[in-house]
Amino acid sequence: MNCIKSSLVFLAVVLALTSTTEGFDITKILNQYPEFALFNKYLTETKLVDQINSRSTVTVLVLDDNTMATVAGNTSDVIKVIMSTQVLVNYYDEKKWVEVGATHEPMENLFQSSGAAMDNHGYIYVAVVEEGEIAFRSASTANNAAYDVYLVKTVVKEPDVYSIFEVSKPIESAPPTLNGSTTLDASMRSNAADSPGASALAPAPAPSSSCRLSVTFIAALSLFMLAF
Ligand SMILES: *[C@@H]1O[C@H](CO)[C@@H](O)[C@H](O)[C@H]1NC(C)=O
Ligand SMILES: *[C@@H]1O[C@H](CO)[C@@H](O)[C@H](O)[C@H]1NC(C)=O
Repeated sequence: MNCIKSSLVFLAVVLALTSTTEGFDITKILNQYPEFALFNKYLTETKLVDQINSRSTVTVLVLDDNTMATVAGNTSDVIKVIMSTQVLVNYYDEKKWVEVGATHEPMENLFQSSGAAMDNHGYIYVAVVEEGEIAFRSASTANNAAYDVYLVKTVVKEPDVYSIFEVSKPIESAPPTLNGSTTLDASMRSNAADSPGASALAPAPAPSSSCRLSVTFIAALSLFMLAF
């Protein structure tokens, strides 16, 4: 990591730890869109709503009531897994998905945060397919598996905070394997660890001596900014 990049990461960490988040209420936001009433109801019933509202960034891939009706016959535990798979822990929009799709970077979801996810069930891949459509699949599926969950439309975006998009159907995970044969390789994991959400939790990188001056400067600048 070069000096400027590590300084910027340091600045981001300082700001992430100290800035007061505006906060959002996913239930209130979704209440404005009656076609997602069932999805909204299940967010509350599974208590995922609290996890979502406590985040500083989130992307929710919602399903309309007709699609949610096909999910509704499952047990509440299964429904919670399905719902938490649809919630990405970072902010994404179409532009970011084109970038992330090009680098094949896995995107972490709330199921991963539950600690119960096995075999990459906690990660989603995105790609630009066919006529430039954005599509998703679970990272737990085979490498050649189809991206068969399509982006339908943007519901609402608050850039870099939250976004809600409708998708065509639930993102299905592969059945769990005891061997972990579909585990992400090491480079994918480090990619994931470099994502904005993860780096805010990671310890600030140790600056090299040539870099200390600029880190010190950035730290002073952040403190100065915070004072006002
Ligand atoms: C459970 O949800 C899946 C969608 O992920 C659906 O295909 C399936 O039919 C549901 N099962 C029941 C018993 O409703
Ligand atoms: C685990 O992998 C081995 C071969 O690598 C295979 O023979 C075995 O059936 C696998 N077990 C499970 C539970 O998938």
